[in-house]
Amino acid sequence: MPLSGPEGDVPEGAFPAAFRTQLDLLMQMRRDVRRFRRDPVDEAVLARCLNAIQLAPSVGLSEPWRLLRIDSEAAREAALKNFETANAEALAGYSGARANRYAGLKLSGMREAPVQLAIYCDDDTVQGHGLGAGTMPEMRRYSVVTAITLFWLALRAEGLGLGWVSVLDPDQLNRDLQVPASWKLIGYFCIGLPEELHDSPELERQGWENRQNALSIETR
Ligand SMILES: Cc1cc2nc3c(=O)[nH]c(=O)nc-3n(C[C@H](O)[C@H](O)[C@H](O)COP(=O)(O)O)c2cc1C
Repeated sequence: MPLSGPEGDVPEGAFPAAFRTQLDLLMQMRRDVRRFRRDPVDEAVLARCLNAIQLAPSVGLSEPWRLLRIDSEAAREAALKNFETANAEALAGYSGARANRYAGLKLSGMREAPVQLAIYCDDDTVQGHGLGAGTMPEMRRYSVVTAITLFWLALRAEGLGLGWVSVLDPDQLNRDLQVPASWKLIGYFCIGLPEELHDSPELERQGWENRQNALSIETR
């Protein structure tokens, strides 16, 4: 039943207008970060943010996310080498001005980020008893992405940045990190204090691509 008050009619359970404004600001100010300070991340803060993952929706309540914290020098070196190789191959796929532009992009903070995570989806999990995943098994992977989004926002609220790295050879990474065969890589994540704060995507600022001004919705 709608509640009426100074904020107008809002449904029962709605958060106060001031909170909604802040939530909107949080979403606007979330960024993909590739330029990190090397300062360590407070473990208690990181734990709070990781808790957001456990609050995420998942198909059949399967919670198929699996996290690997990449701490050792050997694992970090393997991941960085993987990125550098994949990035060079990606660059070779462009030509002319687009290649020059690609070469100028910074697409990972893997050299600097104090915290690095590889996040996986366990495609074989029995949790959730297959609900919803029988017709569309990819829903498990989408569930992991929803969890990452919550984590991203929680980090941003704490003043921490997250950078999603997908320019990688997942099979090579899985071999290097010795992950179970049923785990599928969703992404490699760099986390830390951002060098700078921005209200627009780095890819826009670098002239690579622009965010659409309007949301297109078709009707049927
Ligand atoms: C699935 C996914 C994969 C991404 N992979 C990369 C990547 O490999 N390197 C990178 O620099 N940014 C990556 N990004 C970040 C996007 O470039 C970024 O989200 C987009 O440019 C919009 O910027 P914003 O997140 O700051 O709003 C990825 C984002 C998503 C959602």
